[in-house]
Amino acid sequence: MSALLQARGLRVTGPSGAVLVDGVDLDLAAGEVTALVGESGAGKSLTGLALLGLVPPPARMEAGGVTLGGVDLGALPPRERRRTRGAGIALVPQDPAAALDPVVRVGAQLAEVLRAHAPLGRAEARASAAAALAEVGVDRDDHPHRLSGGQRQRALIAMALAPRPRVLVADEPTASLDAAVQVAVLDLIDQRRRAEGLAVLLISHDLGSVARIAGRVAVMYAGRIVEEGPVRAVLSAPRHPYTAGLLALAPRLGSPGTRVPIPGAPPRPGHLPPGCPFAPRCPAARAACTAARPGLGPAGPGRRVACVLTHREAAALGRTPA
Ligand SMILES: Nc1ncnc2c1ncn2[C@@H]1O[C@H](COP(=O)(O)OP(=O)(O)O)[C@@H](O)[C@H]1O
Ligand SMILES: [Mg+2]
Repeated sequence: MSALLQARGLRVTGPSGAVLVDGVDLDLAAGEVTALVGESGAGKSLTGLALLGLVPPPARMEAGGVTLGGVDLGALPPRERRRTRGAGIALVPQDPAAALDPVVRVGAQLAEVLRAHAPLGRAEARASAAAALAEVGVDRDDHPHRLSGGQRQRALIAMALAPRPRVLVADEPTASLDAAVQVAVLDLIDQRRRAEGLAVLLISHDLGSVARIAGRVAVMYAGRIVEEGPVRAVLSAPRHPYTAGLLALAPRLGSPGTRVPIPGAPPRPGHLPPGCPFAPRCPAARAACTAARPGLGPAGPGRRVACVLTHREAAALGRTPA
């Protein structure tokens, strides 16, 4: 069965021509959470925005296509495309403070969102807004600045989901929340996934936190997906040394003190080293790694990796802590 949302060859460039998102393919299945993880600057937010056709200038979507339920969004006339996308794909943006007007009560804001998506009367929209907010434990009469970080995030999720989209892109919805609130926000997303068969792209820089609800994971580095597969398989036996590095970085259950940083920093877009862009930071780099950039190839059931290491070499890497 083909995925509900399919993105192919997404390519986003910056003003100077630097490639920010480089040929990304994504399949989002109904009723499944796909995590998109990687360090800051990898291109995660731009990938999520590209799915909605909302790449902000001066960045520009240069190539790629998105189908939703088999409908090629690019082939629709612009008006129809906006409508199909708007009704079908919702976004919880990375910066929640900027997404809510601080001086307008949340109930009134959500009512506006609902009226933009459906032919509702004012009273009807207000009532649905209040109900949607009550469901996530937020009072419609509150102003956004009075909400806690967790309440604000729940209100944004309620707003994103109120028009009943089929796909949700949630960009770092738990960043800056403390652990217990993170769990509550992830559980809210998971509950809606289960109840409504929502397809979710869950963007995070923290591989550890998203594992809780994700079925699949895609790991992004320097604008490309370098590893993807079922979350359990990838977390228990990462095939890319970068994935292994992210895992060592995530706080472990029971031993919160042990975080091993990945040495060095990601390359700046437009200034990629030759070959594999992770090679300068990779504990297993060899001559082949600087000769050519590895493509994303099959690596076991439902898995793909962009690395020259064999399965055995990758496994050995996981057993020897740096
Ligand atoms: N609107 C934009 N115009 C130009 N460059 C951008 C824009 N948004 C992000 N970038 C750059 O693109 C790269 C990827 O950004 P982003 O997708 O936000 O990364 P992530 O979400 O993984 O942290 C970064 O180098 C960032 O500075
Ligand atoms: Mg981001």
